[in-house]
Amino acid sequence: MSVTQQQVLDSLAGVRSPRGVALTQANVLSDITVNDGKVFFSINVDAQEARAWESVRAEAESAVRAIPGVTAAMIALTAERKAGSASPPPPPRPAGGVKPASAHRPPQSPAGSPMSRQAEIPGVAAVIAVASGKGGVGKSTTALNLALGLRDLGLKVGLLDADIYGPSVPRLTGIREKPALNDDRKMIPIPRFGLAVMSIGFLVEEDTAMIWRGPMVMSAITQMLRDVAWGTLDVLVVDMPPGTGDAQLTLAQNVPLKGAIIISTPQDLSLIDARRGLAMFKKVNVPVLGIVENMSYFQCPHCGTKSDIFGHGGARHEAERLGVPFLGEIPLHIAIRVSSDAGQPVVVSEPDGPHAAIYRAIGAKVRDQLQGAIAAA
Ligand SMILES: Nc1ncnc2c1ncn2[C@@H]1O[C@H](COP(=O)(O)OP(=O)(O)O)[C@@H](O)[C@H]1O
Ligand SMILES: [Mg+2]
Repeated sequence: MSVTQQQVLDSLAGVRSPRGVALTQANVLSDITVNDGKVFFSINVDAQEARAWESVRAEAESAVRAIPGVTAAMIALTAERKAGSASPPPPPRPAGGVKPASAHRPPQSPAGSPMSRQAEIPGVAAVIAVASGKGGVGKSTTALNLALGLRDLGLKVGLLDADIYGPSVPRLTGIREKPALNDDRKMIPIPRFGLAVMSIGFLVEEDTAMIWRGPMVMSAITQMLRDVAWGTLDVLVVDMPPGTGDAQLTLAQNVPLKGAIIISTPQDLSLIDARRGLAMFKKVNVPVLGIVENMSYFQCPHCGTKSDIFGHGGARHEAERLGVPFLGEIPLHIAIRVSSDAGQPVVVSEPDGPHAAIYRAIGAKVRDQLQGAIAAA
């Protein structure tokens, strides 16, 4: 049975805003996407009223899920800053307000407050972000292989592809299926290579993913964190959308991050972007666990000779200069690209090879910095 937009609208007509107006009359709904039984849209409200709207969001979600044929509903509450507010404006607040990342520590926030429930993901000891100042530097490839490296160290690891602009984890892992829902209507991550994998790309087609813009990006991702049955994890690696704009800043602020890793290539331009990334995480008090230099040097697949075609070492110097850890250098190697594109990341396809060893070494440095969080869980 295919679900229509009209059915969704009909069900939403029965849900009331905090002021008692039917949702369909309240002028708050985004476009509604209905895709293969999966329904996505956002409710855009004034930041001051976001709190009062959270229960409305939940009600709307229940109403949509009750439509026969609906297999999943993701409804994001987005709060828009008022036009003309002083700059820099506060980031939009989702779902009843979220503390800044700095407030997530220590993890023992007062029990029972809605904020504390939102702050931590139950069962997940440490959420870390893999970020880059710009796209195409190998962020996703590194995030996945790093997750596998952490797995090889004996940790339970999840991977969330939060790159709403271009989710690539479905391709990198070869996952084609859609997540099922458990009895609590939470999405069950897809198990692959011993990782719990979730991607916005599982829910929408790659082209459709482009509809997630502006404030929706952040609230969609916070929902991906909360509405997924992650189970017990030592580390959840989040493949962030590239860039250091508002969306990324807000995301960094609203996800309970234990730390961030910045991927850069050695080129100057990419380093400048990496610096912006550092500044961004600093702003929201998320510790930067370190910088990884990807495509650091070219390694000839035939003779193994290394050439520093991009001026290798730039990220190491930059890390030293900025006083953040340098986590390692990954060569530009055809095996890394080919294996990724075939859905068999190099740590899986060549577990005893030199590249897997590099990712594991980076993983070990990351784990050592997270030790406190992982041990406490
Ligand atoms: N170290 C590497 N060696 C060779 N190719 C790489 C390496 N890292 C990434 N790539 C390739 O570069 C492209 C972009 O990588 P990707 O991880 O998708 O970047 P991003 O997530 O930053 O956009 C992909 O084709 C990927 O296979
Ligand atoms: Mg990517």
